[in-house]
Amino acid sequence: MTIHELIVLRRTVRQFQPRPIERALLERLVDAGRLAPSAANMQPLEFYVVDDPALRAKVFPCLKWAAYIQPEGNPKAGQEPMAYVFVLVNTKIREKMAEYDVGAAMENICLSALSEGVGSCWLISIDRPKIAEALGIPEGYRIDSVVALGYPAETSTVEEFKDSQRYWKDEAGGFHVPKRKRADVMHVNKF
Ligand SMILES: Cc1cc2nc3c(=O)[nH]c(=O)nc-3n(C[C@H](O)[C@H](O)[C@H](O)COP(=O)(O)O)c2cc1C
Repeated sequence: MTIHELIVLRRTVRQFQPRPIERALLERLVDAGRLAPSAANMQPLEFYVVDDPALRAKVFPCLKWAAYIQPEGNPKAGQEPMAYVFVLVNTKIREKMAEYDVGAAMENICLSALSEGVGSCWLISIDRPKIAEALGIPEGYRIDSVVALGYPAETSTVEEFKDSQRYWKDEAGGFHVPKRKRADVMHVNKF
């Protein structure tokens, strides 16, 4: 599969199979993050991997899922993520412009995961104080966001954007995500 095909295929997944993710695969995902472009090559990002079941259980209540379709968008019992990669900004290295680095790293992680059959959901609606306590994050680090990971237990398809950006679930549990059309976002040689 080409990178472009992978990009087109990638959709956020919020229901996961109870199948463990190998530690070696998680290491490859951290490599995908740490090798992403970085402003001035300062590399302020660090990656905190959670795959321990007890720690996963502490993390899960700190996350908010699919705000447009609460509570149906939440992972069902038994379909929670099997691992998390938190992205931390080491503010002693650099805080400014870290969001750009985070974006590049996270998309690398999500695409690398998908290339190995693992689905992902990037979340910024997270309870940072509780997570900092649960994970023992020291001073000098800002918790930016997290990618939740697992083998997918739901499908999600792109729909043509009509009058709303809101995603929805159909009666069979299939997820649908409207995306703006190319003609509406592409400007060639004139606006
Ligand atoms: C920066 C960022 C933050 C996000 N935060 C959340 C979140 O807190 N909870 C959640 O369920 N999804 C979150 N998402 C996933 C988006 O809802 C999802 O990307 C969007 O609906 C488009 O769907 P797609 O990823 O399948 O293209 C986030 C995505 C991005 C890029």
